[in-house]
Amino acid sequence: MKYRISFIGSGNLAWHLAPALDNAGFVVGEIYSRDRKESKALVERLYQGEIKKNLDFSASGSDVFFIAVNDDAIEEIAQEIILPTEDSILVHTSGSRSMGILSYAAVENIGIFYPLQTFSKERKVLFDKIPICVEASTAWAEGILQEIGSGISQKVVTIDSDQRRALHVAAVFANNFVNHCLRVAGDIMKSEKLDHELIHPLVVETIRKAFEIGPANAQTGPAKRHDFETLDEHLDYLAENDELAEVYRIFSQYIVDCYPLDDQ
Ligand SMILES: NC(=O)c1ccc[n+]([C@@H]2O[C@H](COP(=O)([O-])OP(=O)(O)OC[C@H]3O[C@@H](n4cnc5c(N)ncnc54)[C@H](OP(=O)(O)O)[C@@H]3O)[C@@H](O)[C@H]2O)c1
Repeated sequence: MKYRISFIGSGNLAWHLAPALDNAGFVVGEIYSRDRKESKALVERLYQGEIKKNLDFSASGSDVFFIAVNDDAIEEIAQEIILPTEDSILVHTSGSRSMGILSYAAVENIGIFYPLQTFSKERKVLFDKIPICVEASTAWAEGILQEIGSGISQKVVTIDSDQRRALHVAAVFANNFVNHCLRVAGDIMKSEKLDHELIHPLVVETIRKAFEIGPANAQTGPAKRHDFETLDEHLDYLAENDELAEVYRIFSQYIVDCYPLDDQ
């Protein structure tokens, strides 16, 4: 069945998810955002979208309401939103927040629709390979979220809030921290007037090798080898940046501890 969907929020995730659902044949009707310019821009990406000016959806024809706002604002929206019927389904898209924070809304059917990917407006994404993690308070709502997820992705899994929180922690290590390390590497190279492209083959091989032989086997470097003089030299180099030196020290020590020499 082609459900009718409304969005609250027009940030990075809604920017991609709403048109993906629209293209899959669901009807994305209303878009609510505090910033009218943002909701207008998102509505223009939809076939039949319209701007919703407030959170009173009592006259809405939608079946499912997606809250795609900052994690900290989800609860506030759940408290304020007025839904059209007691069968309306209210979901949020956060990796870390529990389903329970939606219980402020006076509906029985609440749930999660969490796409495990990083989304930025300026970057195109293809949904068909993005895992969609769903959870719902009733089997009926879970079936509908599964059906909606399957409309855009080949991989839809049901996981509970505890598993999703763990998954989100893992995702922060795999994406946010890796990405920030790439930024640090780039900044160091820039400060030494080194061509940033010098490091690209290393980064590509790091990810490829980790997938192929597993990250534990793929690890190399001074911390794994317990080359403490090299580690000290690197700490000297970072001495002017206390915060970064501390991150380097803690991370290196963690690698040293994970690879005792007896095991190598
Ligand atoms: N981006 C990702 O990679 C990603 C991936 C998976 C899941 N998610 C989840 O998706 C949700 C949205 O993330 P995002 O990356 O799209 O965030 P974002 O780009 O920062 O956009 C946040 C949206 O929330 C709105 N908002 C913030 N506070 C609000 C409030 N008090 N009332 C009403 N609207 C409010 C913002 O509107 P204003 O412009 O008016 O502030 C904006 O439309 C989060 O729960 C996040 O965990 C994100």
